[in-house]
Amino acid sequence: MERHKTLGALLLLPALLALTPSGQGGSIPGAAGRHGPERAPSGMVVSEHWLASEAGRDVLAAGGNAVDAAIATGLALAVTHPAAGNIGGGGFMVIRFPNGTSTAIDFREKAPLAAHPEMWLDENGEYSSDVHHNSHRAVGVPGTVAGFEKAHRLYGSAAWVDLVEPSVVLAEEGFLVTEGLAEGLSYLVERKGSGYPATVAAFSKDGAPYQAGDLLRQPDLARTLGRIRDEGAAGFYHGETARLVAEEMRANGGLITEEDLDLYQARERTPVRGTYRGYEIVSMPPPSSGGVALVTMLNILEGYDVAAMGHNSAPYVHHLAEAMRRAFRDRATYLADQDFVDVPVHTLITKEHAGSLRETIDPARASTSAPSDLAQGYESPETTHYSVVDADGMAVSVTYTLEAGYGAGIVVPGAGFLLNNEMGDFNAGPGLTTDRGLIGTDPNLARPQQRMLSSMTPSIVAKDGELVAVVGSPGGRTIINTVLQVILNVVDFGMDIQEAVDAPRVHHQWLPDRIRIEEEGVEASTVAELEAMGHPVDMGGRQGLAHSIMIDPATGERLGAADPRNPDSGARGH
Ligand code: DON
Repeated sequence: MERHKTLGALLLLPALLALTPSGQGGSIPGAAGRHGPERAPSGMVVSEHWLASEAGRDVLAAGGNAVDAAIATGLALAVTHPAAGNIGGGGFMVIRFPNGTSTAIDFREKAPLAAHPEMWLDENGEYSSDVHHNSHRAVGVPGTVAGFEKAHRLYGSAAWVDLVEPSVVLAEEGFLVTEGLAEGLSYLVERKGSGYPATVAAFSKDGAPYQAGDLLRQPDLARTLGRIRDEGAAGFYHGETARLVAEEMRANGGLITEEDLDLYQARERTPVRGTYRGYEIVSMPPPSSGGVALVTMLNILEGYDVAAMGHNSAPYVHHLAEAMRRAFRDRATYLADQDFVDVPVHTLITKEHAGSLRETIDPARASTSAPSDLAQGYESPETTHYSVVDADGMAVSVTYTLEAGYGAGIVVPGAGFLLNNEMGDFNAGPGLTTDRGLIGTDPNLARPQQRMLSSMTPSIVAKDGELVAVVGSPGGRTIINTVLQVILNVVDFGMDIQEAVDAPRVHHQWLPDRIRIEEEGVEASTVAELEAMGHPVDMGGRQGLAHSIMIDPATGERLGAADPRNPDSGARGH
């Protein structure tokens, strides 16, 4: 399954610290040694690549606001972090203003006009996971550039050209490949994208893999970014870039046309809001399931003294898993693009709904999950999250993605950017729900112009009207649970933001019915206790990259916590 391939790609990220040019490398979870948080008096950017954080920080230092810095960071990541940073994908931006109000920008990809629910079934009705996840038919209409332009038009303050220019320079002049990027690019050109000559040309040295320390220049991408700098979103959705995308699609059985690109619009949405022990949670509404599921789980857990259970103790992991199980069943049953489907968001995030779910939890025994639990009859996980806070306290939380690491592995010839494989987040086909986690419910089937269901959970936490933290993560369906645990670590366990990000994480997603715990996550005796309660437990792997910011309540300083699970990440403040 693609999800496993994606996790595989994530695990390719090496824990080599030698090339990390700052104190932001450091330990992996459980390892000795502190490496943060980074402190700054005014503004902070934390992202997957220190060069992108620097691009955002420079915008803040020049007087731009957090939205401006988020746009510059996102475009720089499209150059320095091609696994997930993108202009060929989509995502979400949650914004909290200094006066306490908030909004969200939805730039999730859309299905092309020619899409239909059975588009990954062959003439015999056989479903092809490969076509669904690894072909031109896996590509959704990209949303990132439209989303950034909309956010800038509505809430930016700096000149657009100044936000795009740093990424043009990075692509044109190049930057040094790290160990992690070298490994990722060799996976791309030797495996995933080996069948696409433009991919091999863009990301190898005439066919030979890049090595750590090499300079990576991307001249085609620099020209595309130059058109975006000069023409705004029109430089992507019309003219040369649109023509190159549509030609690539026509020549390879893809569905996206010039008309699909012309029709794409980002949407402003009302965030999902909840409360947890007096803290206010602001997160992403549908087409992400993230905000709804996060608030549901927090509401369930509010009924327990989780701090008294002990961090990552068996009772704690049990209650986490049971809350996760219930929120993910709701997700499979109800969540999808609310422009197409009635999603009962307001009911799902109530304390009453959580109370009724809590009543079904046995404190000592695992419950079970089965496809037959569904009222109706699906979704699928490289993504990247970054957090920004400016001098005025405006906070921006962005998670965006190509879906799998390097998306579909297809570089648009002449345009130099990778296309997403986000159509893989639509359900595979009507009714295809399995114990292994394939979901076949109706709301999230592919329909023309519909946005595919996401788990991305860019979130902001406040208390008594003051900004507390900016959080989020990649990781497919694990995202929601990663964000949940960072918040619990701060609120219930009193961790500082770096400890909260570093702490080992737990995942359960209803189906498959298993708890997964990061390598060093819990003692063997805890696993035994969980198994005795009836939970199948898998240990291993890494979960998420939760680059976060917290405000020091005493000094107002911005505390940037880059997640050490990727040594290329960086927190940069001023
Ligand atoms: O939108 C989603 O939920 C997924 N396409 C995100 C994919 C992801 O996080 C992969 N990262 N490791």
